[in-house]
Formats: sequence, C-alpha cells, structure tokens
Amino acid sequence: MLFMCHQMAMKKEAVEKLKAEELRKARASSDIPIIWILGGPGCGKGTQCAKIVEKYGFTHLSSGDLLRNEVASGSDKGRQLQEIMSSGGLVSNAEVLSLLNDAIVRAKGSSKGFLIDGYPREKNQGVEFEARVAPADLALYFDCSEDTMLQRIMARAAASSVKREDDNEKTIRARLQTFRQNTNAILELYEAKTLTINAERDVEDIFLEVVQAIDCVLKKKKQAAAAQC
Ligand code: AP5
Ligand code: MG
Repeated sequence: MLFMCHQMAMKKEAVEKLKAEELRKARASSDIPIIWILGGPGCGKGTQCAKIVEKYGFTHLSSGDLLRNEVASGSDKGRQLQEIMSSGGLVSNAEVLSLLNDAIVRAKGSSKGFLIDGYPREKNQGVEFEARVAPADLALYFDCSEDTMLQRIMARAAASSVKREDDNEKTIRARLQTFRQNTNAILELYEAKTLTINAERDVEDIFLEVVQAIDCVLKKKKQAAAAQC
C-alpha cells in the first residue's frame, strides 16, 4: 500500500513537471514573433526574408522551399507535390501545415522569431495555422503588379543555373491566377495585423519599411512580457 502511494505521488510529480515545462515552453514561444510573409509569385518575399534573417537572426521557413525539399527527396509524395506545383495550384494545407509545424517545433527552443514565407495562401490556411500552431503577430504583404512579378521571375530564371520547375511563363501565369483568386479574402480577414508594403520599389527602400514594422512588433512583445512579470 505504502509502495503504491509512493508510486502515485511520483507519477503526480512527473505530470506536474511536464505541465510546468509545457507552460514554460508556451511562454517562451509567445515571446518570439511569428510573422507571415505574403505576396504574389516573384514579389520579393524570399529577398526580403534573407535581409530580415541577416538583421534579426530569425528563422526563415518558406513553404515553397519545404515543399521543394520534399520533391528533391524523390519520394512518391514528392512527385505528386511537383505535379501540383508545376500546375501553379496549391498543395493541400494538411501537407504544408504539417511541414511548417514540424520545422517550427524543431527550431522553437533556439529561435528568435519565425518568418513564415508564402503562407497563408488562402484564408483557411491562416485560420488553421493560428488554431494549431500559434497566432501570427504581423503579416507583411508585398504589393506588386502582375507584370513586374512576371518579369522578375523570368529574369531570375534566365540568370539562374538551377531553374525552378515552375519558373516558366505558363506556370507563372497560373501561379498569378491562383494568387489573384485567394488573396483578397486573406487581406480582409487579417486586415488588423497586415501591413501592405509597396514592393515595386528598390529592395533597400522596401526593407526600411519592413524594419520599422518588425521593430514595432518586437517593442510590443517586450512590453507585453514585462507586464506579465
Ligand atoms: P513559392 O516557392 O513560395 O513561390 P512563389 O510564391 O511563387 O514566390 P517566389 O518564391 O517565386 O518569389 P518570391 O516572392 O520569393 O520572390 P523572390 O524574392 O525570389 O511557392 C511555390 C509553389 O509551392 C506554389 O506555387 C504552390 O504550388 C506551392 N506552395 C507554396 N506555399 C504553399 C502554401 N502555403 N499552400 C499551398 N501550396 C503552396 O524575388 C524574385 C526575383 O525578383 C529575384 O530574382 C529577386 O532578386 C528579384 N527581386 C526581389 N525584390 C526585388 C525588387 N524590389 N526589385 C527588383 N527585383 C527584385
Ligand atoms: Mg520565394
């Protein structure tokens, strides 16, 4: 009897420890910003993310890159993903969110902040992300004309030694159409946390605005953390 009581007490202690650890992790993760990076194909999401990583040391998770890694593995699933990406359509959210979530969990302990590049691409992706992963602190939307985006991708494809499968005019036009169909609904739903940035300008001019927005989020996070103490 005494042995059983001792075992139960130890079990309770272990559960409490686990709960405390989960809470600690949840608190720690809420201190770091989660930023969605939105905009059409070729608007400059990856370019701005590289600069943000350089300045702030955030973790850059591009949904497109995660999917291309899966394709590169040569798996059957990868082949199916490539087919969808080459058609300019959207991969199922179950697939994308699972890749993103795994990457976030892997980086959580050491990350200073997350840049979620190319996600959400339709309204429900945003809703599911916030329900299953965490609320986003900010969405940066890079606004750019379709002509400019097409030209930028064509120029990238011409200059690159490893051309992306979806960087051809037919697929770019399909990607633009997918973007056109879904974006207004995202912008409407997340209006309160979205900053629209004119992305037709020089990379450095755009980045100045990006920095202002991120500094503002970091300041708010710091104040919120201080208020909790
Ligand atoms: P993804 O890889 O995300 O491609 P994308 O959204 O089409 O955008 P890109 O990566 O081509 O462009 P970018 O905005 O990063 O621009 P970049 O900085 O490179 O997605 C690919 C596919 O994966 C999707 O079509 C879909 O099938 C699937 N997928 C991805 N996410 C998904 C999701 N959430 N759900 C479902 N499916 C998903 O710049 C482009 C070029 O322009 C570069 O050469 C750059 O140097 C230049 N440039 C950048 N900024 C400027 C500037 N200001 N002035 C002049 N040139 C500039
Ligand atoms: Mg990109």
